[in-house]
Amino acid sequence: MSGETLSNLLSEARRFPPPADLAAEANVTAAAYDEAAADPDAFWAAAAGRLDWAEPWQQIRDWSNAPFARWFTGGKLNAAHNCVDRHVEAGHGDRVAFHFEGEPGDTRTLTYADLRDEVCRAANALLSLGVRAGDRVAIYMPMIPETVVAMLACARIGAPHTVVFGGFSADALRGRILDCDAHVVITADGGYRKGAPSALKPAVDEALTACPQVRSVLVVRRTGQDVAWSEGRDVWWHDLVAAQPAEHTAEAFDSEHPLYIMYTSGTTARPKGILHTTGGYLTQAAWTHWAVFDVKPERDVYWTAADIGWVTGHSYIVYGPLANGVTSVLYEGTPDTPHQGRWWEIVAKYGVTILYCAPTAIRTFMKWGEQIPARFDLSSLRLLGSVGEPINPEAWVWYRHAIGGDRTPVVDTWWQTETGAQMISPLPGVSTCKPGSALRPLPGISAEVVDDNGQPVPNGSGGYLVLTQPWPSMLRTIWGDEQRYIDTYWSRFPGYYFAGDGAKKDEDGDIWLLGRVDDVMNVSGHRISTTEVESALVSHPFVAEAAVVGAADATTGQGIVAFVILRATAAEAGLDGAALARELRAHVTKEIGPIARPRQILAVAELPKTRSGKIMRRLLRDVAENRALGDVTTLTDSTVMQAIREGLPEGS
Ligand code: WT7
Repeated sequence: MSGETLSNLLSEARRFPPPADLAAEANVTAAAYDEAAADPDAFWAAAAGRLDWAEPWQQIRDWSNAPFARWFTGGKLNAAHNCVDRHVEAGHGDRVAFHFEGEPGDTRTLTYADLRDEVCRAANALLSLGVRAGDRVAIYMPMIPETVVAMLACARIGAPHTVVFGGFSADALRGRILDCDAHVVITADGGYRKGAPSALKPAVDEALTACPQVRSVLVVRRTGQDVAWSEGRDVWWHDLVAAQPAEHTAEAFDSEHPLYIMYTSGTTARPKGILHTTGGYLTQAAWTHWAVFDVKPERDVYWTAADIGWVTGHSYIVYGPLANGVTSVLYEGTPDTPHQGRWWEIVAKYGVTILYCAPTAIRTFMKWGEQIPARFDLSSLRLLGSVGEPINPEAWVWYRHAIGGDRTPVVDTWWQTETGAQMISPLPGVSTCKPGSALRPLPGISAEVVDDNGQPVPNGSGGYLVLTQPWPSMLRTIWGDEQRYIDTYWSRFPGYYFAGDGAKKDEDGDIWLLGRVDDVMNVSGHRISTTEVESALVSHPFVAEAAVVGAADATTGQGIVAFVILRATAAEAGLDGAALARELRAHVTKEIGPIARPRQILAVAELPKTRSGKIMRRLLRDVAENRALGDVTTLTDSTVMQAIREGLPEGS
């Protein structure tokens, strides 16, 4: 973030105190901060007490083997029982768990009782395929109820799931299946996106050409499109699951039993398998969902408009809302299909009271214009949330005004795949919001902004965001790579978790997130590693070397700009600049997926490097964002940057 943006941010003076009626009935009051500060372990024990435990824990937190944490040790519970069965047993079986809205307009209503039956059937189906506790199951699905059912069925039998976002390529899917050694894959023929069926099964078939250990593929029929079939391996969900009994006794698992692995980008090309376990994760996902969204299960209609393939969907579509017994909306498609008011039509149709989405979506709606949401009755909304990247104050204020009717608080929630649940956020009944600030750590969470030496910065200064104490839903390790876990998160500032984000404390000590400080880009709220895209580019025969930067983008936060040095083969192919860029963009899409497709590809003769050979992405970012060049004195050859500038096409 440039210096100018930063000072603009901190001069933001608008303040939004909590609405009196919300504050009067809020689930959590200011006392929670004091209670948690006085005794964080007792605070989290009380939060864990909101769940059903089959066996009580002996110890709340075990940090004796830091940085490897254990929470609620000795305790036993079943995540699916907590998300489904216990609500039915408490007499809420008729409550709607999901209002599903397909992109073509088809709808389904699943009550908690329906969900219990489906999860039991799917659990029995997985058992019949030989899946046992501890086995990993890969899930590659559109946004349909079966995706939730599949996850909960895995959780129910203690088989950790790894959900791979449906927009990822066959190669990316294969890498994840191999990394966690999954033997069963759950998928669908396809899903609906942008008004048309979009196939998923072909990517699974392609991925599995090099995954001999996968013995079964369970396929949901969603679109009805033709699929290739591998006899003996592939089985239809409607054949296998529907034939199972709707009874299954859930076994209680250890609090530290693995619940899921979610892959996320880091600073190297290889995605990291972030491991979450059961008791601590579910405790914090449920508590934060209840506190930050102030949910009232008997009357709220809650909607996280994100994909289940990301951690936001895991914690705030599946585990948090279901653990709290809340009614949610599940929407399959894109916001502009068949028209740009689709989200607002859904809010009005189901009477959505709480909406959670990403700044990139909000900025897109701003671009489309306030007149579109204005056509719909959005008066049911009482609370709005934002996640995924820093929200610009203008987007925050627009969201509150155009969507929230100038009534609703907007909670800007900072967290990560690794943190498992929200960490820094306002509490809607307590906090006076500042547009663009996530404010302060939630009760029970300890965060700090530190300088290069790990010392806390004074109010009014910036530095690196760290978490200074373990928290229940923290990642336990990187799957199969403990050393990488230590190196990535616990080595930059000994004793502290390094989040990879820059942050500033204002004069009140409130925190303003400033974006990543490492080589990780944030495109539409999705983390993509520069190295991952560079590796994909270099794997193309035309490319000798590549450097990728995230350049500021008004809608997506950052856009991917790639600088490539071409091989002679590129000239021999005789493609013009546009055709070459098209070819390379298609290649990245194939290797990683459409979200990693560079916005711009620029062929250059040389790349700026330090004397030690490190690419100076900072300088390339200056070029990509049309800024005056930063300091070039550490470059091996300071004329390189001039040459890059001069060689660029007009207006790039
Ligand atoms: C990175 C984590 C958390 C689920 C979605 C993303 C950025 C996330 C905020 C926010 C500023 C934010 C950070 C973080 N980020 N929320 N409210 N304000 N930045 O999960 O893919 O693991 O990405 O997203 O840079 O490190 P993720």
